[in-house]
Amino acid sequence: MNRKISIILTIAMLLTGCCGCAKAAVSGQSSAGASAQEDSNAGYITVGFCQVGSESDWRIACSNSYKEEFTEVNGYRLLFADGEGKQENQIKSMREFILQDVDYILLDPIVETGWDAVLKEAKSAGIPVIICDREVKTEEDGLYECWIGSDFEKEGRNAGKWLADYLQSKGRDQEKINIVTIQGTMGSSAQLGRTKGFGDVLKEHANWTMLGQESGDFTQAKGQEVMEDFLRKYHDIDVVISENDNMTFGAVNAIQAAGKTCGRNGDIVIISFDAVKTALQSMIDGNINADFECNPLLAPLVEKDIEKLQAGESLEKVQYIDETYFDDTMDLKSLITERKY
Ligand code: AHR
Repeated sequence: MNRKISIILTIAMLLTGCCGCAKAAVSGQSSAGASAQEDSNAGYITVGFCQVGSESDWRIACSNSYKEEFTEVNGYRLLFADGEGKQENQIKSMREFILQDVDYILLDPIVETGWDAVLKEAKSAGIPVIICDREVKTEEDGLYECWIGSDFEKEGRNAGKWLADYLQSKGRDQEKINIVTIQGTMGSSAQLGRTKGFGDVLKEHANWTMLGQESGDFTQAKGQEVMEDFLRKYHDIDVVISENDNMTFGAVNAIQAAGKTCGRNGDIVIISFDAVKTALQSMIDGNINADFECNPLLAPLVEKDIEKLQAGESLEKVQYIDETYFDDTMDLKSLITERKY
C-alpha cells in the first residue's frame, strides 16, 4: 500500500475511534505514535505481532521472547498488540497492521477458527503472515506462510503415558483411577491438542474414569474456581490434569484449602503443562508430580523464517519446536537456575 494512503487511512481510523480496542505499540509508544513514525521505519523491517494476552507466566515469557528478538539492533521495528484475551481485539490489530503496511504480521491466534476474512485481507495487501504458538484452521492453506509452535497433542499423549507408567510403578495400574481435567481456553490449539492427546491414552485404560472436564481459561484464578467446583462435586479424585501451570497453581491452592494433599506423597496426582520455573519450583516443593514442557521461546525461530523470506527462500509449512518433560524424580534444582522461563 502507498505510504501516504496508509497514513491517511490510519489517521481516519483513529478519528473515528475504530482501532481503540487493542493496545498496539512500537517500542512502548501509542498506535498513533506508531503511524506517525512510519517514515522513520526506513531501513528497518516492521513486524506487527498480535499476541493473545497476558493470561499466564508462559505468555509473558513468550512476549518477552519477541521483544528481545525483534529489536532495532537486529534491524526490526516491533509493533506489539496485546489482544487482552479477545479474538475481536486480535482481528482489529491485524487490520491496523494492514493499514500501517507493516512488512510482516505475526499472529498467535487465541482460537483456531474465524481468521479467514482477515487473513485474506492481509494476503490482498501483500503482507506475509506467520502463525505462531497456536494454530489456525482456514479454508485455504495459502493464507499464511507457515506455522511454528508446539505439538500440543503429543504433549497430552505424553502426559497420559507418563501417568500409566507412574501408576504401574506404584502398583496401582489395576486400580480404579478417577481423573478431572482443568482445560485451557476452549477452542485454542493448546486446549484441543492436550485434551485429545490425553483422551486417546485414557481410552486405552478401562480402569481410568474422566469425572469432569471444565475450562479454567489458562488463568490461575479460574483454575482455582474450577478445582473448588470439582472438589465440591467429587470426593474421590485421584488425578488432576491441568492444561497449564497457572491453572495448576490455582488448583493446588484449592486442594490445600480443602484440607487435601497433592503431588509427591499427596492424595492427588498433579500433571501440568508449560514447565515454567515457578512450576518446577512447586514440583521441588512436592506439589506437582509431572510437567510437560511447552516452549515459549518462539521468536528466534520466527526471526530465522523472516530472514529466509527476505532472501526469497521458501519455508516449511509446519514447524515444531523442541520440548521435553519433567517429573519429581529428576534433579530440578540445577536446571531451574539455567532456565530462561
Ligand atoms: O498456547 C500456549 C498456552 O497458552 C500455554 O500453555 C499457556 O500457558 C498459555 O496461556
